[in-house]
Amino acid sequence: MHRPYTIIVSEITIDGKLTLKRGVSSKEIMKFMDEEATRYLHQLRAKVDGIMVGAETVRTDNPYLTVRYAEGKNPTRIIPSSKADIPLDANILKPNAPTIIITTEKAPKEKVKALEEKVEVLICGEENVDLIKMMDLLYQKGIKNLMVEGGATLNWNLIKLGLVDEIRLIHMPFIVGGKDTPTLVDGEGFSSLEELIKAKLRAHFLRGSHLITEWVINFEEE
Ligand SMILES: NC(=O)c1ccc[n+]([C@@H]2O[C@H](COP(=O)([O-])OP(=O)(O)OC[C@H]3O[C@@H](n4cnc5c(N)ncnc54)[C@H](OP(=O)(O)O)[C@@H]3O)[C@@H](O)[C@H]2O)c1
Repeated sequence: MHRPYTIIVSEITIDGKLTLKRGVSSKEIMKFMDEEATRYLHQLRAKVDGIMVGAETVRTDNPYLTVRYAEGKNPTRIIPSSKADIPLDANILKPNAPTIIITTEKAPKEKVKALEEKVEVLICGEENVDLIKMMDLLYQKGIKNLMVEGGATLNWNLIKLGLVDEIRLIHMPFIVGGKDTPTLVDGEGFSSLEELIKAKLRAHFLRGSHLITEWVINFEEE
């Protein structure tokens, strides 16, 4: 199986949160992000073939996922959603960049048809989106490197399956708290030390007032 080289990129608070509260757009805390850090994010977008977020991020944040604060082309937007539950007026359906919705056999046919009038829709799995098969499909479609901008559930499902190569974090100088607030990686979590995913710090630097850390996941043990 082939798959894109995959980088999770996230704005994250001191306490590991992605947003203010469950159901609240992360655009709220991103209002406090420096221009330089925003440029770092958009420069990364301009370098990749594809950019992915989970469907819940589309429903909550309604992002554009385009390159606006750097030079370069828009990557293909890729959204997994088991029931094709994407609002028809979502910004990711606007024609300023290509978009692929990845859904399953159980998605309502009328919804798939309505989305197909705007963007490409691929069926990949019966009940849940088969992320391994999806990665293979994306690679075959020319997505050789992929940036994942959350959220917490998609991050967990990709990491659990060993589909992530790097994590790049833009640290936000806030403490949000809240046990139900999405963190970088949610899901059921690992329950034994053997399962933990090891990461190696590759770089750390400042962009404006923000610390950036870059972590390699799939590295060769010395
Ligand atoms: N700080 C940041 O950088 C940042 C970035 C992104 C998001 N966020 C925040 O994160 C929150 C959303 O995170 P979230 O964890 O609730 O949702 P999420 O990870 O964005 O989306 C999860 C959804 O993705 C879809 N999906 C389809 N197949 C999947 C699969 N195999 N594995 C995983 N997901 C699959 C499902 O939607 P269906 O129900 O349609 O099947 C699932 O409910 C929002 O509050 C947002 O503001 C923050």
